[in-house]
Amino acid sequence: MNLAIIGSGYVGLVTGACFAEVGHRVICVDNDLKKVHQLQDGHIPIYEPGLEELVKKNVAAGRLSFTAAIGEAVDVSKVIFIAVPTPPQPDGSVDLSFVEGVAREIAVHIKEYRIVVDKSTVPVKTGEKVAQTIQRYNPGAPIDVVSNPEFLREGSAVEDLMKPDRIVIGVSSDRAVGPMKEIYAPFKAPILVTDLNSAELIKHASNSFLALKISYINAVAAICEASGANVERVAEGMGADKRIGRAFLNTGIGYGGSCFPKDLSAFIRISEELGYNFRLLKEVEAINHDQKERFLKKIRESLWVLRHKKIGVLGLAFKGNTDDVRSSVAISIVQQLISEGAEVRAYDPQAMEKAHPLVPEAKMVTTPEEVADGADALLLLTEWNEFKSLPWLALKKRMLSPLLFDGRNLLDPDEIRALGFTYTSIGR
Ligand code: UGA
Repeated sequence: MNLAIIGSGYVGLVTGACFAEVGHRVICVDNDLKKVHQLQDGHIPIYEPGLEELVKKNVAAGRLSFTAAIGEAVDVSKVIFIAVPTPPQPDGSVDLSFVEGVAREIAVHIKEYRIVVDKSTVPVKTGEKVAQTIQRYNPGAPIDVVSNPEFLREGSAVEDLMKPDRIVIGVSSDRAVGPMKEIYAPFKAPILVTDLNSAELIKHASNSFLALKISYINAVAAICEASGANVERVAEGMGADKRIGRAFLNTGIGYGGSCFPKDLSAFIRISEELGYNFRLLKEVEAINHDQKERFLKKIRESLWVLRHKKIGVLGLAFKGNTDDVRSSVAISIVQQLISEGAEVRAYDPQAMEKAHPLVPEAKMVTTPEEVADGADALLLLTEWNEFKSLPWLALKKRMLSPLLFDGRNLLDPDEIRALGFTYTSIGR
């Protein structure tokens, strides 16, 4: 099928590449001409495992193309996906101006039946607004609006899209169901058809529930520390119950990224507008904030004075396998340490370029060894797999004092202590 994807960021680009991979003809649109040219030349502006190969392969096969002209894409595509950013606003609500702008632009180009699909994460009732907007700018336009939320995790976005747990299609008319099912048939996943509002809610409710699981285990970790229990064993024991599941019970310095923090505040906010005070989710946010503070407190307690201390940081991305530093807890910890006078040296396998402007005072170095040189303490802040097998003994020898704070419980406490580290992790 001929498909258009408006917005070539994480979601749009991965979705476009995967749709092309299963045989659809996809035009990805972006209003950033520089980015369009980069993509046409095969340069991917983000680090996402497997994406570059997929884009290059499908461009070469003639199934994937890029343009800055929405009209061109709307003219030839039966289904148009909106995948533009929905950034947070200072009051916690979502800025829907990009979605609205795209809806208006699409509207004026619609001449025959089109399905307009919202893939951006939006508050419930946005689909209704998109439909009204299109009708306002093109009265009588033959359209159906669909909500089709994405459940991609950065770092494994291609795999998540190619092998989804479920596909959610929220419709306001049965007419759109057939084409939507046809698009997703090659992915061989269960398809759940709902009304528009339910589909939008499924996205916010899912992300909030995952964040809730993380805050829950982080709270349990605090009790483990106070009681001498081991949070890893507790998570294992809880997770073995199929009703609970082990996923997203990894304790750490708290969740970050461009989705959970934003989606939680947006869900709290829209709930308030609809007359419900979502206290549970406010507590999830508060625990997440405390988790970072509790980690910083451990560092302060060990180092006593932070001023002029040399702190080595391993990991800046908001999680492993990505170069994304948006709302990264690692960045916020580095900012705090710097504000307290510490001298920070940092290394991340992918995220240093994007991190630098956010923490210009931190010195970015190209190897973990340089991070350790003369350090008073090392912090592990991102769950990169490669950090598990660093030459820890060699790193220790370069340090001034062998303090190691593992904010992701990546290392085995017995093994690392046997090397002579004074090792602190979370909830164990
Ligand atoms: C999240 C959801 O997992 C996706 O399903 C969703 O599609 C996406 O948001 C989105 O709305 O676009 P993502 O933000 O890429 O995906 O990353 P996650 O893997 O969910 O991790 C989020 C944060 O939670 C990271 O900071 C991670 O380090 C942290 N985390 C995750 C934990 O602290 N513990 C865990 O057990 C899992």
